[in-house]
Amino acid sequence: MKIAIGADHAGFRLKDEIKAYIEELGHQVEDYGCTCGDSVDYPDYASEVCLKVVEGQADRGILICGTGIGMSIAANKIPGIRCALVHDLFSAKATREHNDTNVLAMGERVIGPGVAQEIVKVWLETEFSQGPRHINRVNKVKALEEKYTLHP
Ligand code: RB5
Repeated sequence: MKIAIGADHAGFRLKDEIKAYIEELGHQVEDYGCTCGDSVDYPDYASEVCLKVVEGQADRGILICGTGIGMSIAANKIPGIRCALVHDLFSAKATREHNDTNVLAMGERVIGPGVAQEIVKVWLETEFSQGPRHINRVNKVKALEEKYTLHP
């Protein structure tokens, strides 16, 4: 798969480690920064990665900030994105099976690189269940997006 990855200043170290790991798993990674500890704004990186996903230039996105919270909030503002903030393996698997998430958010200040790598592996390798009830719920989420998106 083609994976778009991005982070703010509080997540770029974990982002760099995860990037190398994803490549080891055999995926292609496009890194949208940031690359150092100078203070930046997480919505800028969330939007860049998410646009690659909704435009089809990336299959999935991964976003990292200090907590993962800011990135996940920003990502879920973008129509077509279903982003999950994940810090455990159960949720990594469940959010692919049940929510068909296309973006994963994590917090460098919350988990270490070992757990983050396992989460990424499970999240990348788990398929959406295609169960009718889950399809129905994801479609309802998409309908909410359409209903509440402000059209000028
Ligand atoms: C940066 O200090 C921090 O606020 C940011 O990385 C993130 O955790 C926000 O949700």
